Amino acid sequence: MRIGSLTLASNLFLSPLAGYTNLPFRLVVREIGGVGLCTTDLVNARSLLEKRPKAFKLIESRPADQPLAVQLFGSVPEEMRDAAVLLESQGVACVDINMGCPVRKVCNVGGGSAMMAELHKTAALVRGMVNAVKIPVTAKMRLGWDDQNITAPDLARALEDVGVAAIFVHGRTREQGFGGTVNLAGIRAVAQAVKSIPVIGNGDVTTPQAANKMLTVTGCRGVSIGRGAFYNPWIFQHARHFLKSGELLPEPPFEERVRVLCRHLDLMIEIFGEELGCRMFRKVAPMYSRRFGPASEFNKRVVLVSTKAQFHDVLENYLNWRRQFLDERGELQPRFRPLPMVASFMQADDTPQQEIAVPKGPVEVW
Ligand SMILES: Cc1cc2nc3c(=O)[nH]c(=O)nc-3n(C[C@H](O)[C@H](O)[C@H](O)COP(=O)(O)O)c2cc1C
Repeated sequence: MRIGSLTLASNLFLSPLAGYTNLPFRLVVREIGGVGLCTTDLVNARSLLEKRPKAFKLIESRPADQPLAVQLFGSVPEEMRDAAVLLESQGVACVDINMGCPVRKVCNVGGGSAMMAELHKTAALVRGMVNAVKIPVTAKMRLGWDDQNITAPDLARALEDVGVAAIFVHGRTREQGFGGTVNLAGIRAVAQAVKSIPVIGNGDVTTPQAANKMLTVTGCRGVSIGRGAFYNPWIFQHARHFLKSGELLPEPPFEERVRVLCRHLDLMIEIFGEELGCRMFRKVAPMYSRRFGPASEFNKRVVLVSTKAQFHDVLENYLNWRRQFLDERGELQPRFRPLPMVASFMQADDTPQQEIAVPKGPVEVW
């Protein structure tokens, strides 16, 4: 898989999730394997240029976190250009431009999904960025503002003409938010509109089969996964294996999920310090526990932890409590096993399935 001058080991991408795709999470996903390129949370171009510590924390990286794309948002061409130059000088592999964010604060100043409505202005802004750096510049968009304004195919083509190296497209409109079904035909129209750059499909992919369907039905060249990776950081490894071999790997055992959970906390503490790291981890841990089977006892307590020692107490108590749901071999009894996850665009049979939720917090506005 190539994005401009960048060669990637896989055609699977981690989507930006503001508040979630920080350095510890990216390291967790990369350690498990299968991901080709990770993207940071969106970063305000002006804040970077003003050297705001929060913006620099968002782009903090390590050699093990390569290759890394930083997602910029902003609507002032000179700021976007200068921020891209700054990122290149920091060793960032790729700059992505946010054109999908529906948050009013971002759109009101002409950024995020407002960019999709102003094709010429957007193309001019992007040209300025592409001309200023050697690293690839990519764009991430939704299908359009609403069903009456499906602008992604035209915009993708216009951006290709000004030198964008790839297009990421979430198969929903801005008006749709996270509701309804991901529109694979809409993504396909974008893949068909460009001449040669890769289009990467995005939205609701939670299983290897869904990643495969995204590729085959839309003709896109890669798949970008956001929430599905948060619920299941093994998704890239498993999807990659399935795409290569047609075989499904078994779900990671409970002990492996717990190991990665603890590793994630250690990285949070290393990177954000014990107090902030533990506080931030309160919204991370319940994502892992969605695949634990019964976990009320864990979820109730983990949202109160402030130290690593407290977390390990909570975990130990939970492991004891969870024993009541195990059979004689130490496996969860079948009736307590978590439901399989399903993508909105996969044919659902009659088996009960777990739908992908939109995480709480800043997410309500995405
Ligand atoms: C909590 C949250 C934060 C998000 N933050 C960003 C962001 O910073 N930039 C962006 O382009 N998209 C953002 N998105 C959209 C995702 O990148 C992705 O397009 C969307 O969630 C659909 O993919 P998924 O179903 O695999 O999660 C966010 C979505 C969520 C749920």
